[in-house]
Amino acid sequence: MRNSPIGIFDSGVGGLTIYEEIHKLLPNENIIYLADNKNAPYGEKSKEEIIDISVKNTEFLLSKGCKLIVVACNTASTNAVKYLREHYAIPFIRVQPAIKPAALNSKTKVVGILATKGTLKSELLFETSQRFAQGVKVVEQVGEGLVTLIESGKMHSSEMTSLLHKYIDPMLDKNIDHLVLGCTHYPFLTDQIKEIAGTKVAILDSGEAIARQTKVILTEENLLNLESGDISRIFYTNKDPQVMQQILDEFDEEFVAIKTNF
Ligand code: DGL
Repeated sequence: MRNSPIGIFDSGVGGLTIYEEIHKLLPNENIIYLADNKNAPYGEKSKEEIIDISVKNTEFLLSKGCKLIVVACNTASTNAVKYLREHYAIPFIRVQPAIKPAALNSKTKVVGILATKGTLKSELLFETSQRFAQGVKVVEQVGEGLVTLIESGKMHSSEMTSLLHKYIDPMLDKNIDHLVLGCTHYPFLTDQIKEIAGTKVAILDSGEAIARQTKVILTEENLLNLESGDISRIFYTNKDPQVMQQILDEFDEEFVAIKTNF
């Protein structure tokens, strides 16, 4: 079991921002990544649909022998991980928007969160804000259209620039000093967001925290891979592999996006 792969899934390439942190912290682990681009964006779907899709993704990764699954998608984490934990015996790691550190460190006592509709309307997000952001105003903004642009290869485009201005400018007017990226696709936009938000706004994502949590759980469950040697990392996508390939091409190693009919 120890040398079985870690499974990671997302609605597309967003979870690759989590994959990078996991691989950095746990270079010895075999990894299977599933980009369920066919069903993107998840953010516009109902809770029931997101649970159904997450179950299918879990079954795919289990069929590949995964020992633990990282749900590298805020929308699926906030809506489906509770269900997955109740129905499957392996550990699931979920992504959570970094509201707690943002609220703790805010001087203006106003923080922004940019996330999908599915994440912002979830109970988990509501509970997290209630618990960790007492006395701090949380300005919520749906990033409608951002995932679709990234998934269609338009990460750097005039449409992207205008959408980012439309979403971020009003938050700046409300005096935010921290901006939480509550969707795993958004760290790809960090440089563009910095251009708009300037140096006074700290931009937070959850990648490193998720990698640390994955290590903690693997250690507790005696699942860390102790063998060194050939490590395999495999990247599946169920739609046109071109966009994923472009991102994989920026990694240090040579990876091929594998098209699966799943
Ligand atoms: N990366 C997913 C997330 O973190 C994107 C959701 C979507 O497909 O809308 O929420």
